[in-house]
Amino acid sequence: MDDLIAAAMSVRDRAYAPYSGYAVGAAIESESGQVYAGCNVENAAYPQGWCAEASAITAMIVAGERCIRAVAVVGGGDGLCTPCGGCRQKLREFAGDDTPVHVCGPEGLRRTVTLGDLLPLAFGPELLP
Ligand code: THU
Repeated sequence: MDDLIAAAMSVRDRAYAPYSGYAVGAAIESESGQVYAGCNVENAAYPQGWCAEASAITAMIVAGERCIRAVAVVGGGDGLCTPCGGCRQKLREFAGDDTPVHVCGPEGLRRTVTLGDLLPLAFGPELLP
């Protein structure tokens, strides 16, 4: 867990967030034990930006992996930087209800929840025929 959080913290420094000023780093531990990290990337046409979790998922897919074992997200401010609604669904594509999501601030872990906590009664790929 410490390595996962460290990876998310490190990649957060690369966030491109000139519009919100809110840098986020995310890291995914895959089935193989490899760690994939990503940051948020904003855009002058605001809705075109994407989240740190989406970047990390893309890095995992590009490497040929499909199964998320754990997630760490690092944001700023005093609150909990939990994945947004869209990212909860994106994570659910490759993770299960029991997958831990470590929600962190710059100082470290703030709270660990499961993806099922964040996205109850999820519609996942296993529901498609
Ligand atoms: N953001 C993420 O990258 N991940 C989250 O879990 C929450 C929000 C980004 C999107 C946007 O670039 C900035 O944070 C402010 O919403």
